[in-house]
This record gives sequence, structure tokens and C-alpha cells, in this order.
Amino acid sequence: MLSIIGLGFVGLSTAAVLAHKGQKVTGVDIDEKRLTAIKSGVMPFYEPKLEEFLKTSLDNGNLQITQNIEEAIQRTEITFLTVGTPSYSDGRINLSYLENAITSVGNALKNKSDFHLVVVKSTVVPLTTTSMVLPLLEQKSGKKSGIDFGVVVNPEFLKEGSAIDDTLNPHLIVIGSSDSKSGNILENFYKRFYGNEMPELIRTNTNTAELIKYANNAFLSTKISFINMIANMCQQISNVDVEDIAKAIGKDPRIGSQFLKAGPGFGGSCFPKDLNALIKFSESVKYEPTLLKATRDTNENQTSVILNLAEKTMGTVISGKKIAILGLSFKKDTDDVRESVSLKIIKKLIDQSCMVNVHDPMALNNTKKIFSDNISYFDDPFVCMNDCDCCILMVDWDKYKLLEPEQFIKKMKKPVLIDARRVLDPNKFINSSVTFAATGLGFYNNKT
Ligand code: UGA
Repeated sequence: MLSIIGLGFVGLSTAAVLAHKGQKVTGVDIDEKRLTAIKSGVMPFYEPKLEEFLKTSLDNGNLQITQNIEEAIQRTEITFLTVGTPSYSDGRINLSYLENAITSVGNALKNKSDFHLVVVKSTVVPLTTTSMVLPLLEQKSGKKSGIDFGVVVNPEFLKEGSAIDDTLNPHLIVIGSSDSKSGNILENFYKRFYGNEMPELIRTNTNTAELIKYANNAFLSTKISFINMIANMCQQISNVDVEDIAKAIGKDPRIGSQFLKAGPGFGGSCFPKDLNALIKFSESVKYEPTLLKATRDTNENQTSVILNLAEKTMGTVISGKKIAILGLSFKKDTDDVRESVSLKIIKKLIDQSCMVNVHDPMALNNTKKIFSDNISYFDDPFVCMNDCDCCILMVDWDKYKLLEPEQFIKKMKKPVLIDARRVLDPNKFINSSVTFAATGLGFYNNKT
């Protein structure tokens, strides 16, 4: 039996998968509204397959939801901590949710005689477990780590949009522990859970496991900024396309083809936050992380690159123009707009007195919460681009791949299209009367 504290994206997805595959899971969260919604089958966010997995697990009783940590600790042997670790404004991570959860777990452990395993799944910088989690649990419970209870670090690599499949088939399990008994308990749990499909496992200490998570995300972010840098170079010269370059270098097995898609830059609740936290951590241990800073700078500069490309393609300043933005979420197949590059572009357009029309298949509601009536929202991409001076395509939603030049020509004031995400076939648009430009495409047919 296990409990999961923190029913955000990672906690809820993990709870749903474990319960769906027969584990008895107690999900805990302090947010009463969220708990009531989940219990009645209303998802706090969109994630493919999550609703179906949760519904069956709630119906068959494998998943129970409560606000009561004490009760959850007493009735389970393993507790996953999946509370958020948001950023302070200077980039450091805010551990207050984790501290609160650990305080409650520690207090509950006071009344428990059996050994209990605490699994840190929340993303935390190196040394957090040894310097905060362990001592706080010992202090609150009055018990000894490694003897009465154990702590392991078990970072999560699941992605939004494929969280259920990623949890069912992880590419790797990392277990960092300071005593082997605790590590063995979690290893055996996963071996029973995955059976013949047990993924590759790496056992290490807690500091290393904590840094693995950050190194993983920082490397992927750096790969994206690298290809965006090459894309920006491509835009300065003729007859070169970053997509051809990504395809070719991706064939080198030492590089690999994933995360080489040039675009408007990375967003979401993880990469920007984790990059900032790792930069701050590195500085705190007196190492200047120049490469990580370049990754961040390159990413932050992508909004300007896109707006400059729009001006160059329109042949005039963007200020005061009517602009259509297609795609608002930080990537396709999610309604999540946290750190979405589209939103950053919209802010800049508003600052430049533009009229902004937006469309997204899923993220309109979340965007409305941020911009209210400062921009106009459309359920239909064609109505969205009506009478606009320029359309910027920001997200690779499948339905955008079907867009045809005639649709822009028919609807827009002047058919100027910027494919910031490289969704469309450039040949089709360059050979039409759309004035077309795209990230990393080193030529355009300026017909204006
Ligand atoms: C990321 C990692 O991929 C997960 O392994 C990790 O567990 C998760 O963060 C986390 O730390 O919780 P996620 O943020 O859901 O997952 O999304 P990704 O699919 O990694 O995309 C991140 C951003 O990079 C998006 O804005 C995406 O559009 C962008 N991206 C991705 C590119 O611009 N180019 C690419 O080639 C790939």
C-alpha cells in the first residue's frame, strides 16, 4: 500500500497509473477544492488518458483520496512526495510545500511502529535530502533514519501530454538512497510492479539522484537552445533550412534526433524553472555555469527573434498592427500555458499597441485568466486570422498541419505568415502568394 502526497501533475499521473495497475493508493492533497473535483471525476488539467485511468481506479476503490496525511501514513508502507517546488523570483526553488509535507509526515511517523519509506519525487537541488528532508523527518518523528524509517530520492522523467505512457514505460528508474535497506524496498516495489517489463535501474546516493534530474532537463534545454542558435544563424543566410541540419546531425548516434526541433524556445513548468534553479545552485557552490546561462539567454531571446522576423517579413514595424497568434499552450496536446512562449509574445505585442487575436484548441480558458479582455479569443483559427496583418504560428497542434495557403489569403488583410514552430511545409507556402517565413529558414519570398 502506498500514499502519494501532492496531487499535481506528477502526483496525480503516478497515482492513476499505479492504482490502475492494481496497487492500493491513497492520494493526499491539502487543496480541498481539487480533492472534491478529482473525487467527482473532474480533472484539474488536461492530460491524455488520465481521466479514464482515474475514473476506473476511483470506481474500483484502488485509489482513495484524502486530505488527512496522518491517516495516509498509518495505512501505507511507502509515501511518494510529489509536491511542487516552485521558483522564487531569483530562480532558487521554494521548498516550503515540501517542508510542510515533511513536517506532517514526520509528525505522523511519531505514532507509527512499522518501518516507513519516504520517497522524494519532487524536483530538489542536490543536498536537499541530506540537509533538510532527513533531519526534519528525524526531528518531527523523534525516530532514526535508516532504522525506523527510510528516505530515497526517485526523480521523475515523465512529460506532459504523455504522462500516462511515460509512467507505464519509463526509460529509466533512478533510486538514490543513503541506506541500502531503503533503496532495496523501492527497487523491490518497482520489480514487482513492472515484472518482466522492469526498466533499466540506476542505484546511487541521494545527492547524485537529485543532480541527475537537473542534469537531464538542463541537457535537453541546452539541446533546444543549441538548435535554435543554429536556426537563428540560418535565418541570416540564404538557401539553408535548420530542419535539414537537424535531420542530418540527428543521424549521428552520438547526438540523436530528439529535442532538435527548432522553434520559439522552450516553456512549460519544468525546463525554465529547473534551469534557473540549477544556475542558482551552481553559483551557490561557487561554480559559474556559463553554458546554462547561454542556454537560458538564447531561449529568452527567441521571442525577439520571432518578432524581428515578423517585422522583416511584413516589411514594416509591428507596432499597432493586428496580429493573429495560433497556439497558446507551451506545447501541443496540453492546456498548460505556464511559461508558454506564446504568452510572452502576446505581452510584447500588447506593449507595442497591437490588436491581438488568439486561437488554441485547448488553452483558451487558461489564457483568458491572464489577459482577460486585453486580447480577442477565437474558437476557429480562420475567424482568428480575419483581417490580420500577420499570423504567427506558435504551437504544433496537429490541426494546424492541415492549414492551406488559400485560407490565409482569403482571410487576412495581407497574407503574412510566420511559422515559428515549423509546422507547415515551407515549399507549399513559398510557392503560393502567402508572404511566408519560418524559424531557421534562410530565405523568404517577400512579396509585399
Ligand atoms: C520535461 C522533460 O521532457 C521531462 O522528462 C521531465 O520529467 C519534465 O520536463 C519535468 O521535469 O517534469 P515537459 O516540460 O512536459 O517535460 O515537456 P517537453 O516535451 O520536454 O517540452 C518542453 C519544452 O521544450 C516545450 O516548450 C517544447 O515545445 C520545447 N521543445 C521540445 C522544443 O522547442 N524543441 C524540441 O525539440 C523539444
